[in-house]
Amino acid sequence: MKLKLILASALLALGVSAQAAPIVIKYSHVVADATPKGQSALKFKELAEKYLPGKVEVQVFPNSQLFGDGKEMEALLLGDVQIIAPSLAKFGKYTKQLQIFDLPFLFDDIKAVDRFQASKEGQALLTSMSSKGILGLGYMHNGMKQLSATRPLNNPADAKGLKFRIQPSDVIEAQFKAVGANPQKLAFSEVYQALQSGVVDGQENTWSNIYSKKFHEVQAAIMESEHGVIDYMVITNSGWWNGLPKDVQAGLKKAMDESIKFGNDIAINGSDEEKAKVIAANKAKVLKLSKQDLAAWRAAMLPVWKQFEGEIGADLIKAAQAANQ
Ligand code: LMR
Repeated sequence: MKLKLILASALLALGVSAQAAPIVIKYSHVVADATPKGQSALKFKELAEKYLPGKVEVQVFPNSQLFGDGKEMEALLLGDVQIIAPSLAKFGKYTKQLQIFDLPFLFDDIKAVDRFQASKEGQALLTSMSSKGILGLGYMHNGMKQLSATRPLNNPADAKGLKFRIQPSDVIEAQFKAVGANPQKLAFSEVYQALQSGVVDGQENTWSNIYSKKFHEVQAAIMESEHGVIDYMVITNSGWWNGLPKDVQAGLKKAMDESIKFGNDIAINGSDEEKAKVIAANKAKVLKLSKQDLAAWRAAMLPVWKQFEGEIGADLIKAAQAANQ
């Protein structure tokens, strides 16, 4: 104590004011830097440290370096990481309502997803896990999902008997079962290996995830199915967040809103570019599905809606459909 006082007065005498150490904020995610989420996380670091100089230090960990799927949510609740942005398909343990985003062929495109997220019903979901200690800071886009496999899948019957890697979502599991395929829940960090070694035959993902993780190099065909969406909720530990000084909280929220917008612009405008890179790499064949084929996929997968209507809520599904304009 005495020593501290002496030190403080010595610093004061030198004209150095005692500055508290910055709050360290760990932001962990599972994708590459060169994706909408990766770019958004780096932008958040830049903006948060600009708006709160000396007050915060943001450390970004991409590619499941710090925590992968399965561990990151627990780590957030334990305080080992402060911000994560899991795909909306990874919240099943905490809420059933977010399963809405996994319903096949619910949203026409990413703009419809955006409208639903901005709606009263979509915004209410951000605080739907507060009793579990999880606070949603915002939604973030990636994009629509494409199917990939070891062979072309024009018709749902072509998927019969194939093994598909899926995110840990019961809705997605039901979606693949509906076409006679065998879904397997696997962490994102294990997908490339599983495809390469033949543990699974196919998967579903966005163009940026496919390209940045080289899935196109270990798949024969990618179908432009756009049958669902991979988007994120950026979340934090609500106890930690509520304990932050108000000015820090406000600065972080501003940085978060702006970094999400930055990432969303990349997601919306850059998806075609990622697709073009996959085509140019000339590894997997990229196949357009005819209107008829798409209608067959839709018809085969649609019964999944009824199956989960009770857990998700019919009204919420209606609100999401209304976003299709
Ligand atoms: C996946 O597991 O395929 C995606 O959710 C990964 C991600 O975060 O985009």
